[in-house]
Amino acid sequence: MSKNTPVNDYITEYENSGVARFHIPGHKGRILQGLESRDITEIKGADYLFEATGIIAKSEELTSEIYGSAKTLYSTEGSTLSIKTMLGIIKTCKKDGSRTLVLAPRNVHKAFIDGCCLLDIDVKWIYTDRLTSGLCVSFITPDNLKQTLAKCDKTPDAVYITSPDYLGNMADVEQISKVCKSFGVPLLVDNAHGAYLKFLEKSLHPLDMGADMCVDSAHKTLPVYTGGSYLHIAKNSPKEWLQSAKETMSLFASTSPSYLIMASLDRCCGELKNGLIDSIRACAKKVAEVATTLNQLGWDTKTAEPLKLTVYPAKNGYSGDELADVLREHKIECEYSDTDCVVLMCSPFNDEKDYQRLVLALNDTTKKQAEPIDDKPYLLPQAKVKMSIRQAYFSPHKKVAVDEARGRICARPVVSCQPSVPIVIPGEQIDDEIIKILKRYSIFYIDVI
Ligand SMILES: Cc1ncc(COP(=O)(O)O)c(C=O)c1O
Repeated sequence: MSKNTPVNDYITEYENSGVARFHIPGHKGRILQGLESRDITEIKGADYLFEATGIIAKSEELTSEIYGSAKTLYSTEGSTLSIKTMLGIIKTCKKDGSRTLVLAPRNVHKAFIDGCCLLDIDVKWIYTDRLTSGLCVSFITPDNLKQTLAKCDKTPDAVYITSPDYLGNMADVEQISKVCKSFGVPLLVDNAHGAYLKFLEKSLHPLDMGADMCVDSAHKTLPVYTGGSYLHIAKNSPKEWLQSAKETMSLFASTSPSYLIMASLDRCCGELKNGLIDSIRACAKKVAEVATTLNQLGWDTKTAEPLKLTVYPAKNGYSGDELADVLREHKIECEYSDTDCVVLMCSPFNDEKDYQRLVLALNDTTKKQAEPIDDKPYLLPQAKVKMSIRQAYFSPHKKVAVDEARGRICARPVVSCQPSVPIVIPGEQIDDEIIKILKRYSIFYIDVI
């Protein structure tokens, strides 16, 4: 029976062949950390990611079939590479020669800004009138988008959204895609956190909701090594997108993609065809049950995205960061915490004991008197854009204390390490509102032109 894992089958055969390795990598397959014998390079028969015609092409096709895409590309450098590729495809396939313009809400990952910088893309930000207490969340609605699109002087080349976000909020991708279609603008989705959404009882994957391209960090939610990501191109996409995709990815990528990561993406495809989908569905049910239990224990949890448990502990007297420390004492490490919340990411590879430990830990955690929060939700400031991202990035610049940055133009994206959502973007003028938010994220220095 076919295991649907052509890359792994090839590597296993090579591993067992006893061939003397007079090729890269320098470890020659000798075991130092454990995986060296499977860490190969582009030898005969092993195909080449950016001009794939053999085992890698076959593996990508198998994954494409599972996702129902016209084409799925493997990335071994995360969605960071897939996002730049997606933007690159839009720019490369643009026919009218004018500057490329993309519309996006403000909660983009830094990879998007880097892509716009490298490709010299202009961005028009979609702001909403909803208060927020964090940069990760956008809350854009189909109406917000419709209004922004209607006001655009020039039809943008794409709309780009992030869904799910780092905290597990999901946008209404289906309705947003309908708005995009009515304006004839392609929808690109950063679905880094949602590779598994395809496999729920009812798919919530962006491709099934009408997205034209999306990226999935397979490594975030599926059993894939860190760095494994997909770029999916939807059926009925322009043929130029399909033709230019690999070449565009290679523009940003290493010429030595990791076979360990490709083999891991390939193996995941085999697992999906062999029971993993059922396990994902069972896991989504388990997470919902655990959320209910935690709510009954008096902890506010939110599970809009089915495999994330986001706990908001303010009413029990804890900040998210404090609760994360409490969980660490119970030998539980979260994905992310900030003032408001703790984000726990679950997968079918968490076992019953993990969930029991979590429930016991929160059951044992003494609730305290809630302290008044001085961090009130705020409206994201709409910064004045003084020049393009690329022009600002490549201008001479220097680092100054944020208080001295008032009125100056930002030269480097400013992000806090996680969730890597930029607070200020190159080309924007820094004002008091922005300075307040920078300090809130404990950022005290900034590069300005
Ligand atoms: C929303 C979002 N997009 C993109 C990325 C980049 O993904 P990767 O780590 O696969 O490069 C991340 C990483 O955390 C993310 O949270």
